[in-house]
Amino acid sequence: MPAKDLEQIVNLAKRRGFAFPSAEIYGGFRSSYDYGPLGALMLRNVKDAWVRAVVQMRSDVVLIDAAILNPPQTFEASGHLANFSDPLVDCTVCKRRFRADQLEQRDCPEKMKGCQFTEARAFNLMFKTHAGPIEGAGTEVYLRPETAQGMFVNFANVLATSRKKPPFGIAQVGKSFRNEITPGNFIFRTREFEQMELEFFVPPAEGPQWYDYWKRERLEWYVSHGIPREMLRLREHAADELSHYSAGTCDIEFLFPWGWGELEGIAQRTDYDLTQHAKHSGQRLDYFDQATNERYVPYVVEPAAGVNRTMAAFLLAAYDEDIVNDEPRTVLRLHPRIAPYQVAVLPLSKKDTLTPLAEEVYSSLAKRYMCDYDETQAIGRRYRRQDEIGTPVCITIDFDSLTDHAVTVRDRDTTVQERVPLASLEAHLAARFGF
Ligand code: GAP
Repeated sequence: MPAKDLEQIVNLAKRRGFAFPSAEIYGGFRSSYDYGPLGALMLRNVKDAWVRAVVQMRSDVVLIDAAILNPPQTFEASGHLANFSDPLVDCTVCKRRFRADQLEQRDCPEKMKGCQFTEARAFNLMFKTHAGPIEGAGTEVYLRPETAQGMFVNFANVLATSRKKPPFGIAQVGKSFRNEITPGNFIFRTREFEQMELEFFVPPAEGPQWYDYWKRERLEWYVSHGIPREMLRLREHAADELSHYSAGTCDIEFLFPWGWGELEGIAQRTDYDLTQHAKHSGQRLDYFDQATNERYVPYVVEPAAGVNRTMAAFLLAAYDEDIVNDEPRTVLRLHPRIAPYQVAVLPLSKKDTLTPLAEEVYSSLAKRYMCDYDETQAIGRRYRRQDEIGTPVCITIDFDSLTDHAVTVRDRDTTVQERVPLASLEAHLAARFGF
């Protein structure tokens, strides 16, 4: 049974070290989170699983890592300076600000009495700062609000150096920044977040077929990494919801405790971005197809996902409570590729006699898997801790291990234990995990 309440995940995240409010010793910095030892591993696993599926397992996508700070020209061309805004209203009574499209019948979301709202005005979501020691005209730079522009401004560089031709993609994983009017719901909407984006460049006539292809591929990625299909849906945007660059967008939504929410948007950006950057930069951003003797500006299909939201969805979907040996337990049934640790190595006792073998098992498995090593407390409590942080397998080294050269492997989901010879332990784990 997945988590019904966001607080179940927020509490677990804090208690076990997935995510903490940022700058907590100063009272917390609203809407920012710092990822702790487990959260940092899990975030990395989410990104690695995406890169594996979108780049490594394909021959038609390359990865780049572009700058976060960008000159205004980039966002003049992309249209973000003119259009990347949310409708903002001020309350003249309580002096707070809200997003007009999130107000229900102009009621105060904080349930304050007598709020009076101004007319909505466009509030640009980009963070602006200055590059260099002198502030003034010509020194403004922007923190990117999406990683996508890095792919468009590097289109010609990648085309020239990668020997790819349409249909092909440029992928990127990295931080983006938006001055959200109403951040909230834990790591769902923050002002600093990470994206995993693919710009897939195709001959214009192939746009619709690749749009359908990427909707299917991306939906399947979430399911194959452990999110039940019934907690996901595809939702096409209405015309009035479309971003300024999009001719059609479909969201992959997840059933969050507060209702359906976007995990990823798949957009038909057409030739909008390349055409805009070509116009503003004076550079040629098109493709010459030698086979057909045709020159064209490729169309773009863009699957754009959020790392942090995806992590929240994985945590919520994996959360479960059950009864084991007449005792309630909390368990995160995370996919082994997503769980912070794949393996926990647990010497049954702290006695020195077990330590050398336990350390040997840890060192050999750590070459392949992220492992935890824990020798404190009773074994039952250590199992519970690993269940709660989602470790799929616990390996217990006991006194018999010294003579039978075997260990006990305990499964997180079933709690079933089996004895596995040390000689075949790696093969056993590889067969369980599939990697
Ligand atoms: N390049 C297209 C683009 O950025 P988007 O729908 O605005 O599209 C893509 O963003 C994904 O980035 C979203 O589906 C969401 O997962 C994530 N995202 C966007 N804003 C976010 C925020 N303030 N906090 C956390 N994640 C966010």
